[in-house]
Amino acid sequence: MDLKTLLLVLSVLGPSFGSTLDVDYGGVPLWVNRFLGEPSVLSLRGRMDPSWFRAVNTQSCPSDCECPIQWPTALYCDSRGLTEMPPGLPPRTQYLFLQGNSLTRFSPDAFANATKLRWLFLDRNQLLSGGLDAGLFSGLTRLIHLFMNHNNLTEVPKGLPGSIRELRLAYNHIEKIYPGTFQNLQNLTLLLLQGNRLKVVGEPDFRGLSSLNLLDLSANLFKKFPQHLPPSVSQLYLSNNSLAGVERGVLQGFSSLRYLRLGRNRLVDRGMDPAAFNLSSLVELDLSYNQLTQIPVVPTTLQYLYLEANQIAVFNVSSLCREVSPAAYSRIRILRLDGNKLLPHQLPPDWVMCLRVLHRIYI
Ligand SMILES: *[C@@H]1O[C@H](CO)[C@@H](O)[C@H](O)[C@H]1NC(C)=O
Ligand SMILES: *[C@@H]1O[C@H](CO)[C@@H](O)[C@H](O)[C@H]1NC(C)=O
Ligand SMILES: *[C@@H]1O[C@H](CO)[C@@H](O)[C@H](O)[C@H]1NC(C)=O
Ligand SMILES: *[C@@H]1O[C@H](CO)[C@@H](O)[C@H](O)[C@H]1NC(C)=O
Ligand SMILES: *[C@@H]1O[C@H](CO)[C@@H](O)[C@H](O)[C@H]1NC(C)=O
Ligand SMILES: *[C@@H]1O[C@H](CO)[C@@H](O)[C@H](O)[C@H]1NC(C)=O
Repeated sequence: MDLKTLLLVLSVLGPSFGSTLDVDYGGVPLWVNRFLGEPSVLSLRGRMDPSWFRAVNTQSCPSDCECPIQWPTALYCDSRGLTEMPPGLPPRTQYLFLQGNSLTRFSPDAFANATKLRWLFLDRNQLLSGGLDAGLFSGLTRLIHLFMNHNNLTEVPKGLPGSIRELRLAYNHIEKIYPGTFQNLQNLTLLLLQGNRLKVVGEPDFRGLSSLNLLDLSANLFKKFPQHLPPSVSQLYLSNNSLAGVERGVLQGFSSLRYLRLGRNRLVDRGMDPAAFNLSSLVELDLSYNQLTQIPVVPTTLQYLYLEANQIAVFNVSSLCREVSPAAYSRIRILRLDGNKLLPHQLPPDWVMCLRVLHRIYI
């Protein structure tokens, strides 16, 4: 999605849609913006004078880290070129900031004394899968948020505790998901895997993810729409892959799916199952930057349809409305058809009858 669309969606849906206000950050609100790059985690760098709280805070604090007195359960060890985890992690730690270092591995007992950990930030290190012992995280039974974006992982870490609700693994080198990896993660609601090297999903790979709400698989190497995804998802992102179509049945049973993003693929008309999007839950469908020449059939409940930068040359009202009658019309509010082969005068006369609640159309 380009920036213009982004701003448009943001302005339509309001700021609460893109960001999550998480008040569980040691008492201080933490904004995580899902749209503008993950994540915007806090650092104390440049915000406070560490020598002050080192002087006044009597609690133990590893010499490579900062322990602000106002947030006694937070430990800031981020952005300081560390190649190893600082020793002496205080057992009180619930929020551990280690992002922006050069860590490649952890000793198997690195978190043995940190059983109270709830948020663990490891973004932008160089962590290798071989450097993470299978039991490394398993004792962290209160861990809720694990951030590991922008590392060098080739697989999803093993032995994650069942308490995890949000797992961020975007921009790693993950090629394969091993069967059973997520077996215990019934509480996981958000899983970020964009910017990896996934090609296929096997039947057991995502098994166990019964609460998953958002799954981001954008910018991977999928050539076919992956099967066996968790049907509980309401937001499914598969942009920037090489999908040629949406085959019959791949979205069958996805009765909660609301936001589906398939922009920047290689979708062609003949790859599209005519009933592919027959899901009355669907609110937003992004098919921009593909090679479609026709508007695919979409449910009349759809509100946002992005088809810009395709090769559409005809506007077929029946794709949006099965019939046009006082009771039957399309709920589309925003329709983007710019960057296609259509001109405004090519719209058929009955389009206004179908798109009765349209807020904006781009041609
Ligand atoms: C955990 O705590 C025990 C007791 O305080 C200590 O002996 C041990 O070295 C600590 N382990 C780590 C990895 O910090
Ligand atoms: C991690 O990957 C980057 C490229 O993505 C590479 O430059 C770096 O050397 C890798 N680090 C390790 C420890 O393999
Ligand atoms: C999953 O979440 C529920 C409800 O918040 C909680 O009671 C349960 O302990 C969690 N499961 C695990 C394995 O932590
Ligand atoms: C998808 O590609 C576009 C254009 O190349 C880029 O701006 C965007 O960041 C990519 N998305 C992801 C998730 O990598
Ligand atoms: C769409 O789904 C509904 C209910 O799930 C079903 O009755 C209908 O036959 C489907 N339409 C097509 C074209 O598959
Ligand atoms: C529009 O689509 C319907 C069904 O997909 C088809 O029967 C009809 O011929 C199409 N109309 C035009 C003008 O292409």
